[in-house]
Parts: sequence; structure tokens; C-alpha cells
Amino acid sequence: MKKDNNNNNSSPKGRATFGSRIGLIAATVGSAVGLGTIWRFPAMVQRNGGSAFLLVYILCVLLLGIPVMLGEFSLGRAGQSDPVGVFRKLSPKRPWWLVGLLGVVAAYVILSFYMVVTGWTAEYLVQSVTGDLFRPVDGLEAGSSSMFLAKMNSYISSPVSPVIYTFIMLCVSTGILMLGVQKGIERMSNIMMPMLFALMLIFVFVTLQMPGRDAGLEFFLKPDFSKITSRTCIDALGQAFFSLSLGMGTLITYGSYFPKNTPLGKTAISVSSLTLLVAILMGLIIFPAVMTFGLQGESFDGAALVFVTLPEIFSRMPAPGLWAILFFLLLVVAALTSCISIAEVAIVFIHDRFGLKRRNAVLAVMIPMIPLTTICSLSTGALPELKILGQSVFNFLDTFATNYLLPGGALLMCLYLGWFAPKGLLRNQLTNNGTLRAWYTTPIRLLIKYLCPLLIAMLLLVGS
Ligand code: PFF
Repeated sequence: MKKDNNNNNSSPKGRATFGSRIGLIAATVGSAVGLGTIWRFPAMVQRNGGSAFLLVYILCVLLLGIPVMLGEFSLGRAGQSDPVGVFRKLSPKRPWWLVGLLGVVAAYVILSFYMVVTGWTAEYLVQSVTGDLFRPVDGLEAGSSSMFLAKMNSYISSPVSPVIYTFIMLCVSTGILMLGVQKGIERMSNIMMPMLFALMLIFVFVTLQMPGRDAGLEFFLKPDFSKITSRTCIDALGQAFFSLSLGMGTLITYGSYFPKNTPLGKTAISVSSLTLLVAILMGLIIFPAVMTFGLQGESFDGAALVFVTLPEIFSRMPAPGLWAILFFLLLVVAALTSCISIAEVAIVFIHDRFGLKRRNAVLAVMIPMIPLTTICSLSTGALPELKILGQSVFNFLDTFATNYLLPGGALLMCLYLGWFAPKGLLRNQLTNNGTLRAWYTTPIRLLIKYLCPLLIAMLLLVGS
């Protein structure tokens, strides 16, 4: 990210912009690809009966995700501000800024459980480095799923270590955020994302040799329409928005950093196809392994899937410790780049709205995270009595934010863009003020105006 002077990447008023197109895509993919795609997606597939979920998820990404992403980019680049400021600037006399505020609230809620899972991945990284992850447990077969499940339970249910690891990750993200957007996000995403991708390809190669391959592929890929329920639809909708970082203003904030000449359509297609690809690769890794190790069925908690299945895959490869270290290191980085993008929404809001210095804005966002993440962390393990509406605080915040806050935010944004925004905003942004021939401008405008609000509202109603 750089402050531009008068280069052709310029944006109005010298707001910082991304330095290069690759950097811009890498940073946006860095926000999108994280625990949502790698940890949450397989869990959702498992919970919702496999291929039925995949099908609805892909439809949600294509029909709703891409238009909403283009809408967020357009708003951000047109408004050149934080999500609240964008609505204030574009429609000063109307209360649309509340939609931006909803995004800031969603950022707090999501960060408080996301940080906890980031803490788990950090603990797994440390346990891989010390070798503890593969140390046998009395009475359990070495390197088996039951052994890794026992380890997962013992790590998570401790009242101390998950809280400490979450706190450490909070401090690390705070440090990165204080260094500034460009240095923190661009550099890390550029190097680590391709490495993560390469590693996943190796794992796919390994799991596609396993005896459970055919059953796993059938579960994940063979469409079974009879399994599509209202739950599948709402879970897939939420997962689509969560994995693409949509519905809470993250990509409005990123859009405000985009130079004037960025082709929004190509950027949205690159980001969504890479996210989809990573999700599908994760499915190809996890489900053949699930069938081989006998972890199928809803009775096996999906949240543990990545932490149990992958170590068992590693233990069947030469040098398991090395694969574990590499994978969890890259996962920690992927999680951190997403954490940073979630926190960025609230930080830019406080910085732009209240004029706080960036450093103080970072602290104002991250300090309240300490009690919030601690409650979330304890609710999944040591203090299961910490509940909201019968669910652990962690699960409640995850479901509430993902399935309701994000689609709700996206719905309101589509209504605004389709019906109330200044005339020509979307067309001007999609065509870079008429300098780009973007054939998809009219279909995207129609999708945002009619189909997206209708479909999202329907899915929200069906799911509740
Ligand atoms: N897309 C991120 C992931 O899949 O891990 C999570 C996320 C980031 C959600 C930013 C929402 C957001 F605004």
C-alpha cells in the first residue's frame, strides 16, 4: 500500500492505494482465504450431508457472492472512506450509514470467535514443532484419529492454553496492524498464499491414493438433491459470504484502497475463483481421508475435522512432523491475514470517524477483544456453561454472525445500490468511468437490483 502522488494508480485525495494489481488481488485473496475456507468449509460440508451443500454453496458464490463483491468494491472506490463514511458521503441525508455500522458490529462479533480458532492453529503449530502432536497417548493407537481427537479435546478443554494462544495471536495481529496496511498484508500474502496452495495440491495427491477415495469423492461431489434442506441453504449462504469476506464492509474498505484503473470485474472473478478452488481442494483432501479413517457422519464434530484428519494424513506420509509444521505455519498466516482484514473494518471506521491516530484506533479495537475472545474460548472447552440461547457462546456468535449478520448486511447493501444509490454509481465503477468495456455491467446491475435481495431474503426467511 502506498500513498499516491500523481501516478496513474491515483485515487482521490491521496488515500493510500494498493501498489500493484497482484498485490491488490493477493491482499483480497488473503482476506478471503482463511479459516473459513480451510477449517469451516469442510465442517459445513460434513454437517450438511456433503455434495448437496457443495452445490448450493457454489450457486451462492456465483449468483450472490460475485455481484455482492462487485457492489462492495464499487461502493468503497466511489466513497473513498470506511463503510460508514461511504454511505454518509454518497447519501448524506439518509440513514444508510447504519448499514456500515452493522458491518462494524459484525467485525467485532466475527473477530471474537475467529481469533480463538487462530489460537488453536497456533497451538497446533507449536505442538508440531515440539513433536507433542505425534507423541503417543496411552491406550490409543499411535497416529490414529482417536489419538488426534483425544489431543484436540485435551488442548481445547484446558482452561489456560487456548486462552493464552488466542491472546498471543491477538498481540501478533495488533503488531502487524500497527505496522500499517501495506507492509503487513501485501508482503505476507504475496509469499505465503502460493505456498499454501502448493502444499494443498500435495495433500490432494496423497489422499486420492487412499482406500476411502471413491466413497469420499461420492460424498463430496456426487449431487444428491434429496439432501438439500432449509438448513443446507442458510448454511451455504452464510458460508459463501463468510468465505468471500462479504457482508460486513471488509471489501468496501479494500475497495476504497483500489486505484481508479483497477478492473473490478476481473478482480472479483480472480478472488472468488481462487476461494472456490481452495474450498474444493480442501474437500478433496478431507473427505477421502474421512472415509478412510471412519469419521463419517454428523456425529463427528466438524469443528475438529481439520485438526484430526490432517494430522492422521501427515502421519501416513514420510516426515509427518515436517508436513505438520509447514501446514500449520501457513494456516496461521492465512488466518492472520483474514483476522487483519476483519479488524481493519473497525480500525478504519474509528480512524476515519473519530480522527484517532491509526495506532490508537488499533488499540481501541483490539483491547476489547481480550475479554470477548476469552469468553468465546472458554465456552468451547473449560466452561461449557457459557451459553447463549442453548448454544456455546462460540457457536452462537459463529452462526449468528455468519448466517444472519453477513447476509443481512449484503441484502441491505444490494437494496441501497439497486434502488437508492446515486444514479450511475455502479455502472461508472464497473466500467472505470466509461473507459472499460465491461459486458457484465447490465447483468450485474440487474442481479444486484432484483435477484440478490430477493434470493437472500428468501434464504434468510427459509432458514429462520
Ligand atoms: N473470509 C475469511 C475466511 O474465510 O477465513 C473470513 C472473513 C474475513 C470473514 C473478512 C469476513 C470478513 F469480512
